[in-house]
Amino acid sequence: MSVDNKSDLQKLFVESLANDNIFMVATTVDTGFEWQAVDECKEKLDKNVKIVKERGKIYFNVHWNQFALVQEMRSIDNVFIVADVRQFEFTGTNKEAHLQLFKDAVHNDMKMEKSLNAWRHITGFQGKIYPTNEEYNLAEKDCKVSNTIVESSTVKGRKRGQDPSDTKEDEILRYRVTCERTGKHNFESSDVARVIGGELQDKYLWLVDLSTYYLEVLCKLVNNELVTHLRVTHESKHRRNIMCFGPTTLRATVCYNLLRLAQPNPGDIIIDPMCGGGSIPIEAVSAYSHSYVIAGDNHPKAVLRTKSNIDASFATCKIDLLHWSASQLPLKDSLVDIVVTDMPFGKRSGRMTDNRILYKQFLTELGRVMKPIRGRAVLLTYDRRSFSVALQTAGDLFRVTKTLGVNIGGLQAVVYVLKRTDTPYEQFKPKIGKHTICKSE
Ligand SMILES: C[S@@+](CC[C@H](N)C(=O)[O-])C[C@H]1O[C@@H](n2cnc3c(N)ncnc32)[C@H](O)[C@@H]1O
Repeated sequence: MSVDNKSDLQKLFVESLANDNIFMVATTVDTGFEWQAVDECKEKLDKNVKIVKERGKIYFNVHWNQFALVQEMRSIDNVFIVADVRQFEFTGTNKEAHLQLFKDAVHNDMKMEKSLNAWRHITGFQGKIYPTNEEYNLAEKDCKVSNTIVESSTVKGRKRGQDPSDTKEDEILRYRVTCERTGKHNFESSDVARVIGGELQDKYLWLVDLSTYYLEVLCKLVNNELVTHLRVTHESKHRRNIMCFGPTTLRATVCYNLLRLAQPNPGDIIIDPMCGGGSIPIEAVSAYSHSYVIAGDNHPKAVLRTKSNIDASFATCKIDLLHWSASQLPLKDSLVDIVVTDMPFGKRSGRMTDNRILYKQFLTELGRVMKPIRGRAVLLTYDRRSFSVALQTAGDLFRVTKTLGVNIGGLQAVVYVLKRTDTPYEQFKPKIGKHTICKSE
């Protein structure tokens, strides 16, 4: 195939093959925040790094010694090493013939040694990736005995498989293959996982283990292109901050992306006026430690949950936590540089009818507490209609600089980035319908 027929992912992969010290990385990103991940990648790795962006994912090549920086990135969730990218020609209607193409590719063409060695070093896997037949036969016998124990105790929890760094030197790699598939095919995702899994076992003599695996091989087939990923993150990065989860707890990765949109500077005062369980303020002090963070909620249970989460994190003492109403904040005029909040959606939290009034009062109150010209707000909501009406009511206190459509736990939400204008709050006369709102002073 000529270079020009190759997809962007294939081109990136081919570039990585040219240098033993470079390998291709794939990371998942909360859908809608891909550009934030691209920006962070350029900021933390190299401004010239070539990145392929897809919905919910970014791909790039890194040098060995840059991998620690990838793991420090906060906008991304799961990290994978890309072991192979290739395209297939599915001609005819014979299912077995199509599946045979995957078998042949694994058996004859896929050279996974470089990415497997990278995976071993990054994850700290101590065991055997290339066992002998004898070692495999012995381990398989033992495995049958220990598998019954694993099934009966059922491994549950938020971690995926087993931590590869927990292995002993004589252990043989336990693995599983999963497949995500998009496009029209005459086979199922499970067929792809089964044939690739079987072929990998024949080639490398690994032990299949669907629950206590060390290595997950994720095969992503989009139309005729297969990307083979080796999972590096044993635990998704979005769970990093919170111990006490609530019904609307936001992922740490989403919180970081929201904060990033506000471009915090050292010394900035950042508030989350509707903090729920505190996921935004905790991420704020973790990622932007030179900021001053204030959080509050009007629900006593939410304030208690935030307190527990702060106490369980290393953010202790760095966040001022208050029980307050977002429509009457106990803060002086023009104090706040940045507001980042996740507003009651109306579906999981709050009611649409309440939102109409709350959103108007809230935006007007933000107009009072935010610094004119400098102040910026990043507001996440599902309730686009209530927000638009509130924005009209807030008149020229704000300018919308960006809107992003994002996916939050399967719900379509919107992020509004607002800039406080230079209009003095005193000159502004907010209205709800025919009634003027009393300014909270
Ligand atoms: C979507 S949740 C925030 C979730 C939070 N980001 C988290 O990760 O846990 C919205 C929060 O707004 C709070 N809220 C609703 N009306 C409020 C008001 N008038 N003042 C302050 N907080 C309010 C609710 O109690 C709820 O905790």
